[in-house]
Amino acid sequence: MEIHVKVNGVEYQHEVEPRLLLVHYLRDVLRLTGTHIGCETSVCGSCTIHVDGKASKSCNMLAVQVDGCEVLTIEGLAMKDELHPLQEAFRDNHGLQCGFCTAGMIMTAADFLNELSDLSKESIQDALKGNLCRCTGYHNIVKSIMQAAEKMKEVPV
Ligand code: FES
Ligand code: FES
Repeated sequence: MEIHVKVNGVEYQHEVEPRLLLVHYLRDVLRLTGTHIGCETSVCGSCTIHVDGKASKSCNMLAVQVDGCEVLTIEGLAMKDELHPLQEAFRDNHGLQCGFCTAGMIMTAADFLNELSDLSKESIQDALKGNLCRCTGYHNIVKSIMQAAEKMKEVPV
């Protein structure tokens, strides 16, 4: 089946198998390997990307489902040479160790920071419940997101 999709601002047109998972399309066809595969069962969140502005688990979608959509992956989040405030904050606060979960954490946060009115530690922890990290204990991830939220209040992204 032929799909037309815009990924990180670039238009693509590909013939794909109807059963091809979106995460495999991104990684194997487009070579956007910043999106990771952890569980492939919609549990860990490491494959999170945005589809038409909403955080979505790309292991839980077929490539054909994004026909006509706009997709954003971690590779498209930075603005030219400038890191996104979330990327900066994760770097500043040591919000990662092995980094396997990081792209998914950042893509999830980039969505909910636009919507959450309560940016307390507890509400951020709750909003992250679909993303698992086996290294950090989450403390520095939440701290990073809180720092980014402060910065984004001053300069909306
Ligand atoms: Fe998609 Fe784990 S790989 S949720
Ligand atoms: Fe290793 Fe989160 S930093 S899984």
